[in-house]
Amino acid sequence: MRQRFDFNSRKVLLTGATRGIGRALVDRLAARGALVLATGRDPSAVALLVRDTPAVLDGMAADLGEIGAAQSIADWVKVRHPDTSVVINNAAIMNRGALTGAGQDHLEAISTEIAVNLRAPLALSVALLPVLHRHSGAAIVNVTSGLAIAPRPDAAVYCATKAGLRSFTRALRDQCRRALYPIQVTEVVMTLVDTGLTAPVAIRKYPPERAAADLVRGVEAGLEEVWVEKAKHLRLVHRLSPKLAYRIMRAR
Ligand SMILES: NC(=O)c1ccc[n+]([C@@H]2O[C@H](COP(=O)([O-])OP(=O)(O)OC[C@H]3O[C@@H](n4cnc5c(N)ncnc54)[C@H](OP(=O)(O)O)[C@@H]3O)[C@@H](O)[C@H]2O)c1
Repeated sequence: MRQRFDFNSRKVLLTGATRGIGRALVDRLAARGALVLATGRDPSAVALLVRDTPAVLDGMAADLGEIGAAQSIADWVKVRHPDTSVVINNAAIMNRGALTGAGQDHLEAISTEIAVNLRAPLALSVALLPVLHRHSGAAIVNVTSGLAIAPRPDAAVYCATKAGLRSFTRALRDQCRRALYPIQVTEVVMTLVDTGLTAPVAIRKYPPERAAADLVRGVEAGLEEVWVEKAKHLRLVHRLSPKLAYRIMRAR
């Protein structure tokens, strides 16, 4: 039987807390009695969040595109908040455009996108295992996307990073089980949500507040995978025909 997860009184490290789904998650986690350690790239946005939001206990600004940023956040947690029992890897960026004829500029952008979306969540998850596994119940929550299973050609690197994070999340879950670590490892497969990341997309989008509520509910239910809103349909279509799923996502 799945074990329910309770956020009440837990310290939660949340990346990308300053905007979009992350900002909505701050409020949702607060409503469930959690204490949030907020991170983001923009130092003034992190400082404002700490100042104005009682549930945000502390914050740290770091650019996850830079080498060593994830380790700095992990060190900060270990020293200042060793009682942290949840990590939510939410921060990500999406670069759109054609890679054909790629030059040096593309390579730098590719490397930053991989660093923020893939290297950082992997590094944070692994660096914080020693902190998490001390608790009787802990959780690592990685936010991926329907694009992890059916990519869009104009966001090739983003889709590859999300597919990589999906794969890593599965394998890490198994490793934690084998090591008898009491850590719930959950992947949240996000639908299209109305945030800065999707500003160029002009179709109906899910509100960030609902996306945050679904994430929290799914983790509380002890789910290994949380498929948010339309991502559920994509999952079904993909089971029947990966080709059709790809065609649907490509046309959006
Ligand atoms: N929106 C969607 O439709 C959608 C769909 C599927 C999956 N997702 C996933 O959901 C998660 C949240 O996305 P969102 O739509 O809420 O994005 P968003 O509105 O663009 O917010 C991104 C957050 O990540 C932070 N961030 C970005 N680059 C960073 C960096 N280099 N270092 C540290 N922090 C950085 C931002 O901080 P700053 O403000 O300081 O830059 C911001 O707080 C992501 O994992 C995304 O892939 C979103």
